[in-house]
Amino acid sequence: MAAGRERWASRIGLVLAMAGNAVGLGNFLRFPGQVASNGGGAFMIPYFVCFLLMGIPLMWLEWGMGRYGGVRGHGSTPGMFQLMWRHPIAKYVGVLGLFIPTVILFYYSCIASWTLGYAVLSATGHLPQVPEVETQLPPEEVQRRVLQPFDDFLKDYVGQSKSREGSVLLLQPPVLTYVFFWVVVALNFWVLARGVARGIEVLAKIAMPLLFLLAITLVVRVLTLGEPVAAGQSPWAGMNFIWEPKWWIERDGELRFVLLDPKTWLAAAGQIFFTLSLGMGAIQCYASYLREDDDVMLTGLSTTSANEFCEVVLGSSIAIPAAVTFFGVVATQEIAARGTFYLGFTSMPAIFSYMHGGQYLACLWFLLLFFAAFTSTVAMAQPLLAFLQDEFRIPRVNAVAFLTIIWVVFSHLCLFLNHAWQVMDYWSGTFGPPLMALVEVVIMMWIFGGWRMWNEIHKGAELRAPIFFYYAARYVTPVILLLIFAGMIYDQVRALLSGGGETGLEGMPAGSPGVWITRVALLIFLAGLLWLIGWAFSLDHHKERIEGAAS
Ligand code: PHE
Repeated sequence: MAAGRERWASRIGLVLAMAGNAVGLGNFLRFPGQVASNGGGAFMIPYFVCFLLMGIPLMWLEWGMGRYGGVRGHGSTPGMFQLMWRHPIAKYVGVLGLFIPTVILFYYSCIASWTLGYAVLSATGHLPQVPEVETQLPPEEVQRRVLQPFDDFLKDYVGQSKSREGSVLLLQPPVLTYVFFWVVVALNFWVLARGVARGIEVLAKIAMPLLFLLAITLVVRVLTLGEPVAAGQSPWAGMNFIWEPKWWIERDGELRFVLLDPKTWLAAAGQIFFTLSLGMGAIQCYASYLREDDDVMLTGLSTTSANEFCEVVLGSSIAIPAAVTFFGVVATQEIAARGTFYLGFTSMPAIFSYMHGGQYLACLWFLLLFFAAFTSTVAMAQPLLAFLQDEFRIPRVNAVAFLTIIWVVFSHLCLFLNHAWQVMDYWSGTFGPPLMALVEVVIMMWIFGGWRMWNEIHKGAELRAPIFFYYAARYVTPVILLLIFAGMIYDQVRALLSGGGETGLEGMPAGSPGVWITRVALLIFLAGLLWLIGWAFSLDHHKERIEGAAS
């Protein structure tokens, strides 16, 4: 029935591609940023709870849903939801699995292009230099003397320097920034146009081993830093900051018990979604290229473990220990609190500029980020491509061309409009995934049927999950998701009532035109997708297929 759909060529290729999907900027930039700004060891406790009770069950379910949809000819969630929930609205609810990954693609590809630009600029010696090692500076001094040049450099690179403090609407990036953006688009176009097995899988087979090599090199370099600045200030102090479990966390000047602090839970759950690409439609899409009896349990668990290895082992052993060695724990927390990028784009190059051959190490760091991002951008692009190919039956290259046009248009908002990417990140990277996950868990475990789904994921399985996960997926995960969702809504309402900017967009001027323009653009995109879904599912070939699959 689903003859003609592409398939992964090999098991190892599939594992690497799925790992490439999950391993991304989330592991090496977002994770250290979240850990440092949420109390180090205190963050790790809710993080592991969310991983176990939500991450693992959701991962298996999304793999199962993907394979179920794929063998029936659907690689994206509108078709999958429709198959599992025979209600006319199901396909429209599935829009989440197109909207979320594609919107992430719009801004993530811009950030990916900065990493590539920075890799080239550092190799050619164009990043700022810090002359001598400064000993134990107070945090404000660190900021002013050491990081300021790198901060200014980043602002220039993204075109923010002329619109300081965010009051101005437009960004004015230099030509170079723009050129690297197009390089990233072209690379993605090339890989995507070659298809799943010949493009994405081949990319993963090359990029993933390289990524491991780069990451391990950097970990070794960072962990052997010693105490170059002051006694007691070493990479191990950074590791202790992350790995020493702490039950108390300071929030707004008060000490709170972490397990009762909603902010920490929201941050931890959000990180699990983002890093594992869960609640996005991206895992389902890759899983739709499996064969009917391919194992999902063991393979799903392996790629999840690979991601966690890259996150908690490699991701936590680079940016934070390096920053703690040179700036101390307090300053590191302050740098991270200023935004996701400061640890990666300002503190890392500053640190490297202290070291021998630092410009090359900086280049390795940004290349690592670039490879991680590249294997993720192709994963974000694939759901919409699968939708166009499966539901409209248009040839792959045409689908890629269509996607690229939309992508480039929306990425221009991120490149030239102040605050645009943060707005997109909030709605698609923070707010969207728990909503999507809640909807799909209910569809699978309650509408499609709990045991039916349980049997589905165990078809051809080389590993049986402990029955504990059945109850986790049916009861615990939906309740956690509901709580997360309620927490986010509560935060929004409270922020709106108190007249501040909405949460997730802190630090951005409330009612800034850039924020509003981006929101309207996103609504138009959403409406466009809904219209495409309605159109696709009214096509004749489609009706036959859905009815055929029912029997
Ligand atoms: N998981 C990726 C990361 O950690 C991000 C991602 C989101 C990838 C959506 C694919 C789809 O960076």
